[in-house]
Amino acid sequence: MNIAFENEIERGSYSNFDKIEHILETDQRIFKENYNVRPFKLHHTLCRSGLFEIPEIVKTARSIIGSGNAADFLALDLRRESISSKFTEAAQHDRLTEVIDRLGESGSWIRLSRTQDYNRDYARVLAMLIDEIGTHADRPFRQEVTWATLTVILTSPGISTPFHIDHESNFLFQIKGEKEVCLFDPGDREVLPEIELERFYASSYNTPRYKPELQGHGQIYRLTPGEAVHHPPVAPHWVKNGDNISVSLSISFCMRPLERRARIYQANFMLRQLRLKPRPPGLSPGRDALKARLVSALEMADPKTFQDIVYSPMNRLKSPMQFLKKVSGRRVAT
Ligand SMILES: [Fe+2]
Repeated sequence: MNIAFENEIERGSYSNFDKIEHILETDQRIFKENYNVRPFKLHHTLCRSGLFEIPEIVKTARSIIGSGNAADFLALDLRRESISSKFTEAAQHDRLTEVIDRLGESGSWIRLSRTQDYNRDYARVLAMLIDEIGTHADRPFRQEVTWATLTVILTSPGISTPFHIDHESNFLFQIKGEKEVCLFDPGDREVLPEIELERFYASSYNTPRYKPELQGHGQIYRLTPGEAVHHPPVAPHWVKNGDNISVSLSISFCMRPLERRARIYQANFMLRQLRLKPRPPGLSPGRDALKARLVSALEMADPKTFQDIVYSPMNRLKSPMQFLKKVSGRRVAT
């Protein structure tokens, strides 16, 4: 541990968060028109809060390690990876604070998950953002949200985050350093074919394939401290850090309409296993409702985690699905 960091932590909190009246600085019309549909850039005040300085992050990391919840801390060595690599291919580190100390020289990607459960101020940031997003989006956001989390991401100079999609609605806030985020239209079916969405909703490990020839379909957003970019749900993206240490904050939300669409994709995945050609969500309200209702019947009654919320029907079906795959051999029109 860096001695200067230790001393700052010992001095206690140096937060200015109480002086901040709002977090988001954005044009309400642009926000409302594009939220959950298209990426857009906005500004934020979190850099002025003092809450995401390295010592405060280290303090939070220590709480995570002390809790024994290993899944809430992940450190990857991405030195040899590229934007087309999958997360699962990267080797893992296991000593968070040592890796943070060496961040400037090593090839690290560090993620602190569910930080709102380990730092009271981070929980306040998340609550404030839920209120503000609801106001800007002009919708009953709080009632739609089923799961929300605040993730802190630290990256070494030049590190890339592989091409992938996320189920959640997301905002990425830049706190320190610069990075490039390349976002693709979530409705671009060349970049993200229906079949790849179905596979993603069958298992989160099924990351869509990066297609270099379609890179021109993406738009690159350069983020500097005080800037943020909205990632609509399932918008394909990759991230590349600048020649600097980067501290970013990711706020993610699961929402009822997104889970309903996930159920339709999960139904379509199963239908495709039966050699059918299912209709994508949005083309047939009646079929969508039936698919969503049938797959929702397999949801856990009281989901606690992201995996439970999004994937519990598929996890419950895993064995019967393998059976169906074996016995089905004919193509049926739908
Ligand atoms: Fe992501």
